[in-house]
Amino acid sequence: MNPRFHFQFFSSPCVVIWNTERMDDDRWTEVDEYVAELLSLDDAALSSALTDSDSAGLPHIAVSTTQGKMLELLARMSGSRRILEIGTLGGYSAISLARALPGDGRLVTLELSDKHAGVARANLERAGLGDLVDVRVGPAAESLRSLAAAHEEPFDFIFIDANKNQYPEYLELSLDLSRPGTVIVADNVVRDGEVANAASTDENVRAVRDFLELTARDPRVSATVIQTVGTKGYDGFALLIVQ
Ligand code: SAH
Ligand code: DHB
Ligand code: MG
Repeated sequence: MNPRFHFQFFSSPCVVIWNTERMDDDRWTEVDEYVAELLSLDDAALSSALTDSDSAGLPHIAVSTTQGKMLELLARMSGSRRILEIGTLGGYSAISLARALPGDGRLVTLELSDKHAGVARANLERAGLGDLVDVRVGPAAESLRSLAAAHEEPFDFIFIDANKNQYPEYLELSLDLSRPGTVIVADNVVRDGEVANAASTDENVRAVRDFLELTARDPRVSATVIQTVGTKGYDGFALLIVQ
């Protein structure tokens, strides 16, 4: 079920749902579908990645088609050659990010679940991107610490999209793997608007607020939050640049 619909249904039982007016969500989805079709954003590799993720029982929480293209464009706009992703799932966003890379580029993507990583590797291979991508299994915070300890070259672009309760930690660890100019994008920071609710007791909302507060007071970054609507309902991205 569309998460936005879910939210309205359960939080406002008095609202008349069976009215004749279209809900905003219908229009958001129609526009996403119109744009994806118009700009040919959906292709065989991306749609197979979703089909295979679904067959393997993975949750339907990958970025949307239009958002995936946004990630590819941001990575290209920043001339990124080394990309880090936190939270691989079935490799949908990883395909988008790896497509932005030059032939000698690298995407390192971190995933807790061995099963998710296996689905992602197969999807990346089929997309012809297997050689550019390193899917590392384990708790992302540990993988991030190992990357920092290995003194690898800093990343040009970092996409944070794993468990939300560790977003503050992922920000700190990401900064250790950055250089001035590194672009950091974090998914799911608006959370149906709950991010503006200082009294929220939802663990994920609180963690995202902590992440944004850390961002706000850290002189190493300049940032904004962009709200989004579409097939994934109402949410948004944080966009940061390391300075
Ligand atoms: N970026 C993906 C979606 C990621 S969903 C896409 O858009 O296609 C979030 C993923 O984070 C899930 O696969 C989940 O297993 C993984 N995850 C959850 N906790 C984690 C942790 N502690 N370390 C690494 N990955 C984690
Ligand atoms: C969830 C995670 C995501 O990264 C996302 O984009 C949507 C939902 C989730 O864990 O429910
Ligand atoms: Mg997400």
